[in-house]
Order: sequence, then C-alpha cells, then structure tokens
Amino acid sequence: MPTLFNPKTHLSYVKPTAVHTMKSFGLPDIGVAPIAASEPFQLFSPEAVDIMRKEALSDIVQEKHFFGCDLAPFQLRGYAAEHAKFSFEAWSHPDVTRIVSEIAGVDLVHNIDYEIGHINVSIPGKRLDHETVPEKERDAVVGWHKDSYPFVCVLMLSDTAGMVGGETAIKTGTGEIKRIRGPQRKGCAVVMQGRYLDHAALPTLGGQERITMVTSYRPRSPFVRDDTRLTTVRPTSHLPSLYGQILEYQLENTEARVRHMLKMIREDMRADRVNVKAVKQFLGFEIAQLRILNKEVVEERFVKKGHVAEAVAAQRAAEEAERKQCE
Ligand SMILES: [Fe+2]
Repeated sequence: MPTLFNPKTHLSYVKPTAVHTMKSFGLPDIGVAPIAASEPFQLFSPEAVDIMRKEALSDIVQEKHFFGCDLAPFQLRGYAAEHAKFSFEAWSHPDVTRIVSEIAGVDLVHNIDYEIGHINVSIPGKRLDHETVPEKERDAVVGWHKDSYPFVCVLMLSDTAGMVGGETAIKTGTGEIKRIRGPQRKGCAVVMQGRYLDHAALPTLGGQERITMVTSYRPRSPFVRDDTRLTTVRPTSHLPSLYGQILEYQLENTEARVRHMLKMIREDMRADRVNVKAVKQFLGFEIAQLRILNKEVVEERFVKKGHVAEAVAAQRAAEEAERKQCE
C-alpha cells in the first residue's frame, strides 16, 4: 500500500528565522506582498522527502516527463497528478498551503496541478553557455530569469550535509548581486516571490547532486491581480495540460468577478442608481487580465521547445520598454 500524506507525521515545520522584503533588496514593491524571499526553513520530515524523491525519480516519470532547456538542462514536469500521489497530496494539503501563505504574507493556492512538484536536477559539469548567462554564473543550475508564477516554494530533496554553494543569486535594485541561502538540508524549503525577482540558482561545489522540487503559487482571491506569465514554462511543457489548466482557473476567476459585478449591477438597478467608477474599474481590470492571457496562449507552432533564455530576454526587453513608457 502506498503511504498517504499525513501532516501529523510528514510535516516538521519550523518557522523561517527571517523573511527578506523586496525593499531590503532595494527593489520596488511591485508584487502582491512585501516578501522577496524567506530564509530556509524545515518543512517536511526526511521520510516524506524520501517518498517524494522516489516518486519523482521513478522510471516512468523520467521517461515521460523529462524536459530540458537552455536555462535548466534537467527538469521533470507535470507528473505529480498521475505518478506521484504522495507529493500531489502533500502540496495540495491545506496545512502546507497555509504555511506557504503565512510566510508569503498573502492567502495563496498552488497555481495549477501541472506545476506541482517541478524538479530541477543539477548535473555536475554541465554548463549553461547561452550568451544571456553572465560568464561567472554559467555553472548555474537554473540561469537568470524571473519566474512565471507569482510565488514558489522550493524544497531540497538532496542530502546536502557539508554542501558548499547552492545559493540563490538575486539582482538587487542597484544591480549588485546578492546571494541568499537556498534550502540547504533535505526537507528544507524557501518561499520566494520569484515572479518579480531576477534570480539564478547557483550550483554546489564539489560535484554534489542538487535536486530541488518546486511548487508554484498564486493569490487565492480572484480579486487580487494575477501576474502569471508563461515565459519560462511554455517551452518546457506539455501545452494541452499547461494551457488547459491555466485557462480553466483564469476563466473561473473571471467568472467569479463577472458574477460579483452582475450582482452589484442588479442591486443598483433595483435602487435606481449606477456606480460608473466601479464598473470602469472592473472593466479595466478584466481587459488587462484578458489581454495578458491572450498573449500568453501562444500557438504551438510558434513555441520554440527548450528555448527559455530567448523568451526570458524578450520578456525582459518588453518589461523594460513598458517601464520606460511609464516614466
Ligand atoms: Fe526561479
């Protein structure tokens, strides 16, 4: 019988000692919460991590869910719902969601099922030679990027006793690079508002393996702005799953907002009044969200499989142009 996730025995949560804010990195508060990244904290018990690791590294997952790209050469994606019951239950358990939300400072849910348990494996000796990766960071496990999803929880699956390196490099507001501690021990995790942070995962020194499991989160409330972009995941995903799940939840959120607005409009009609300001605010929000969604669902024939660095560079240029326009 496979082990079922039990928060009483499989969680061994210890609060992070500190949470770094966007401000503390000299970055503008453009996210949906002040947090940039937490210090590493213990989240799961060693037994739970052993089960997750076994599930993720099974033959069937490696055979059917392997994706590689120029930014991260070894990834396993989209396998949890079908092949990793324990990991799936763990990451969708309300207790785990509550912990991640508390650290993030905003009520979250995991973004989509497809993104539960994304795996990054560092292969010692494998370098990233793309030109967008600065020379000294070319050994990065995952090259420079901003995440596609608002928040991530990164869990260490490797036994990293005595590990050197493995930090996350973050570009601060002054352009200086700060290294923060990654999850260094098996079962340790970090919560990051990675959508707004230019960051890279640095390798460990001495050729140790570094396997991390990443689960992505978004605000639970449909009324909070959702900055999900598919830049880093579109080239490394089974698109029917990725697009289907993104469209499903985003349209459900749209539906919830439309119903809420309709209720207000009907009440106003009964009272012989109209709130134009609220209507315009609603329409502006919907237009912005739907315009983004329309851009994100790129036709399959235009998606360059495995080419994430190029997509990241294009997004960076677009954001820079947008920023200049606002100045
Ligand atoms: Fe990332």
